[in-house]
Amino acid sequence: MESDLKSLKIKAQKEIEKSDNLKELNQIFKKYLGKRGELSLILRSLAKMSAKKRKKIGKEANELKRFLKAKIEKKMKKMRLIGAPTEEAGWIDITVPGEKPALGHLHPLTQVKREAMLIFQEMGFEVVEGPEIESEWYNFDALNIPKDHPARDEWNSLWVKSEGKKLLLRTHTSPVQIRYMEKHNPPLRIIVPGDCFRAEATDASHEFQFAHIEGLMVDKEISVANFKAVIKTFFQRFFKKPVKVLLKPDFFPFTEPSFEVDITCLACGGKGCKACQKTGFMEIMGAGMVHPAVFKICGLNPKNWQGFAFGIGWDRLAMMRYKIDDIRLLRSGDLRFLQQF
Ligand code: FA5
Repeated sequence: MESDLKSLKIKAQKEIEKSDNLKELNQIFKKYLGKRGELSLILRSLAKMSAKKRKKIGKEANELKRFLKAKIEKKMKKMRLIGAPTEEAGWIDITVPGEKPALGHLHPLTQVKREAMLIFQEMGFEVVEGPEIESEWYNFDALNIPKDHPARDEWNSLWVKSEGKKLLLRTHTSPVQIRYMEKHNPPLRIIVPGDCFRAEATDASHEFQFAHIEGLMVDKEISVANFKAVIKTFFQRFFKKPVKVLLKPDFFPFTEPSFEVDITCLACGGKGCKACQKTGFMEIMGAGMVHPAVFKICGLNPKNWQGFAFGIGWDRLAMMRYKIDDIRLLRSGDLRFLQQF
């Protein structure tokens, strides 16, 4: 038995030294030290030996077990350090590029907003924000829209249950014009990005939640020509190509004269699609010269100041930028859509 242990030691040692991968070392471990391993069998046979023999052989066999275990573990450790093959799967190729974690990115509406803000800031406009839950006063009355005026109906308001003054989800960003002019004296140039809400049926160019980019410029001598120059410059810089801009007469109680501004529908290149209802043009903003009544409400003398204001459909701007023919895709939260930007 003693000679068995000696030859087992020599044999196992040789195999361990020769082995150059973890898989093989694992097999050697199993071969000698596993449940049915050669050394384990010897240890199990101790029970059948005489007490004297058991003591001697038992001691030697246990020493050999510790010796082989330590030797195998030491070699395994060394191999792992140098990236030797694992027991499960051949070689680890350390030159294989790592797995890329999925990274998010900015929503197309945010990308469009940031770009638009930058262009207006370069033209001297300051970015300002206002509340999404607005009072009836700021959303309508202060904008020269009296309680019984039919223009209120156009903005299908979503009212908020409230005690005291009447509150609603703002239907446009124009109330921020009032909030700003109450606190700041002209000359002023502001740009106001923000969400708006209207209880209306949706289609390819209408959402019930969408956003406006409001603009307001007030100074001593501001005319429609200044307005045209600002929006033409904006479109030129934003789309990086000439787009046709149409100014059509419109009506807003807070501007006089008022305009609807249309541009070539870039979703279809002017050919006609569902976004522009086959007209080839997209209504992109409402605008006009600030009404004297609005200046008065803000405590400014209309004889001293003139200004223009506009409200761009921010979602529609994104549609034109990315050739999206249905506004509802933008806020659908569909990753297959969003991953394209
Ligand atoms: C207004 O809301 C005015 N406050 C704009 C304004 C500001 C006029 C300052 C004068 C001075 P209007 O309801 O037309 O206007 O909306 C402005 C733009 O928002 C539209 O031209 C369109 O581009 C966009 N828009 C309007 N309704 C929706 C909707 N349901 N879904 C998506 N975009 C819309």
